[in-house]
Order: sequence, then C-alpha cells, then structure tokens
Amino acid sequence: MGLWIRSILEAKRDGGLLAGPDIIRFIDGVVSGSVSRPQAAAFLSAVFIHGMTAEETVALTLAMRDSGVVLSWPGLTGPFVDKHSTGGVGDKVSLVLAPLWAELGRKVPMISGRGLGHTGGTLDKLEAIPGFSTDLPTARLQEILAEVGCFICGQTDDLAPADRILYALRNETCTVPSIPLITASILSKKLAEGIDELVMDVKWGTGAFMKQRADAEALGASLKAVGEGAGVATRVVLSDMNQPLGEAVGNALEVTEAIRCLQGDGPSDLSALVCALIGDSRAAEVLSSGAAYERFAHMVTAQGGDLRAPLRGAGCETEPLCAARAGVITRCDALEVGQAAFALGSGRARAEQDIHPGVGVTVHHKTGAVVQAGEPLVTITHAGHGLEAARALLAGAVVVGDG
Ligand code: URA
Repeated sequence: MGLWIRSILEAKRDGGLLAGPDIIRFIDGVVSGSVSRPQAAAFLSAVFIHGMTAEETVALTLAMRDSGVVLSWPGLTGPFVDKHSTGGVGDKVSLVLAPLWAELGRKVPMISGRGLGHTGGTLDKLEAIPGFSTDLPTARLQEILAEVGCFICGQTDDLAPADRILYALRNETCTVPSIPLITASILSKKLAEGIDELVMDVKWGTGAFMKQRADAEALGASLKAVGEGAGVATRVVLSDMNQPLGEAVGNALEVTEAIRCLQGDGPSDLSALVCALIGDSRAAEVLSSGAAYERFAHMVTAQGGDLRAPLRGAGCETEPLCAARAGVITRCDALEVGQAAFALGSGRARAEQDIHPGVGVTVHHKTGAVVQAGEPLVTITHAGHGLEAARALLAGAVVVGDG
C-alpha cells in the first residue's frame, strides 16, 4: 500500500483533518484506480463517522468536480444559473423554472436526473413529450443556450466521474446519509455545469430524502457554505414535502401541469415555490402573464420535442376515488401518493427499468380543504397495472376528518 494513502486513511480514521492536496490526490487515485475500492470504502466510512470541516468538503467537492469535464460557455454572456432539488413527489419545478428564469434574463444550463423509487425525475417527465432528447452533444447545448437561454439535459459519463464511483461505494457501504458526502456529491455535479449562481431546493417531509426539517436545515447550511466556498453564489430554500407539490404526480400528467403553470394557471404551491427559488421580484408577474410558455416551447422544439403531438402514454384509463363522508382533509401524504404512482408504473426501482409515461395520480384536495361526501379526492390514471396497490395506498394517503 502506498505510504501516502495509508497516512490519509489513518488521519481520517483517527478524526484528523485532511489538507486540500491530500484530498485531490485521493480523488485522482479513486478515478485512476491507484486507490483500491477497499481503501475508498475505508475513507468513506471514516468521513461518515468523523465528518469533514467546510474547508475539507470544499476541497473534496472541487476535486470531484475536476475529476471530469467542467463545462464553460465561451462567447455567451451570463449570469449562468441553476437549481437543484433534493427530490420529491410531484416536483415539476425545473420544467417551469428554467424557461421562466431565462425569460428573466439568466442563462440556465440545467443538467437533471431520472427518478428512482417514489420520487420522480425531470428527464423522465420531459421524455413524455414525443421526440424530446435529453442526450445532446455539448456543442448543440451551447447553441441552444445561446438561442433559447435554457436547456434541460442528462448527465454525461465524463461529468464528475469520481461521484459515480463513490456514490456506488456509498450505497454498498451504507454511507449515503453523510452531510459532507451528500454535499460534495450534489455540488461536484452542479459546479461542473460552469454556473455562477445556484439555488438549492432542500425538501423535508415524508416524501423527501430528509424526513426531518432539522436535517434539511443542516444539509442546506452545508450546501450554502461549501457552494460559496467553491466560488458559486448559493442560496437555499427549504420546502415542505409532506404533501405532493401541485396536483399531478406522474410524468405526462406533470408535463401538462407544468404547461398550465407556464401559461399562468398553475397550482398556487407550485407557482410560489418556483418564484421563491428564482428570488426575483418580477418572477410572479412574468409567470402569471404566460410569457415563459413561449420560451418553454422554444426549448422543447430545440431539443427535438413536438408539443403538438399527444404526450407519450396517452390513452390510459382514469378512476376517481371519492370521499366517503363530508369533512376536512386532515392528511395528504406525499410518500404514499408517490408510492401509489410508482405502483402504477410511473417510476423505477432500478436505473435500467422502464417506466410508463402516462400513468399517475392527480390529487384534487390538500390538507385543510373542505370536501363533500362523494366528491373526488384523487384520480388514478392507469394502464391496468398496479391498480389494487394504488387504491390501497391512496385510501390511507388522503384522509377526511373533522378538521
Ligand atoms: N443526490 C446526489 O446527487 N448525491 C447524494 O449523495 C444524495 C442525493
């Protein structure tokens, strides 16, 4: 074993601090293979147990960012901005935020992910639009950014490759829930987009990665400190994910709702979160004017999509679930609604699984709403698969009580 890696592992094992050059050498070794997988696993366990200072986490983030391609936008005028969400149920914010922020004069080079488990992914949603491509060469992305002001695409293999290796090892070694490791993982990929400003939507609640608000606050504080330490102006918005965001949960259903929102007619919680994340006093007025829809349509066309064609997965059946009694909604649980949509086929348990773009759940009322007996609480959009499971989950997810 090389002496240098031994001394890094011993230092972190004993709760010591690592210097920037040691962290860079470690990450280079992870990617080149000169640091073995057991050594990398030992490093992750030591960080999980002892944590890292903000300075160490900045060094880890930058080393992971620099393990691959760092995009730049020559010839274009910024500011270049992006948003990252820690994931939730019904979270179609990116589809609205990217064109709206571009409409407000920013350049938004957005690299997004796919859904896993009960949380949805922006790329899966956009791929419900026939022809929409999330896999475009960098030269084309540069053209779209110049022409439209925003794009939304998938991550390429050469972006932060150290994160892919370390994330797989974190899964195997049960070291995923570590704030410095999560911070470095998220920010290394975002900082590789070549952005000047980042806003983080850190969600908490039953449908979120972080169940407790205090954990989301801790992650938010770490993301802000490390983002700024790495030279990117970083804001954090904490958002409630105890209930689904908006009404639609499921890929094509969410695209339709995002379009409504872009046309100035979205659910109030969705519009409010988009505007809070953008943090520009003009955002609400521009959103309600519908002006950002044209920019969305332009982005879709530039990425090969056809908004005149029916969304993929069209032709599903619908089934309402109605209130058995009059009263007030006392519970509308994001996790169970997400699990119901997942049971219908809207999400995947493993990265290689197929999804059904058309299925999902529409939530008609949220906590506090007054309903009459027989009124639809949710509508299930299905293709015959998983209906029993979805019905059972939704019966417990949405509860009518006495208020
Ligand atoms: N998302 C990421 O990209 N990385 C993590 O570690 C957790 C969530």
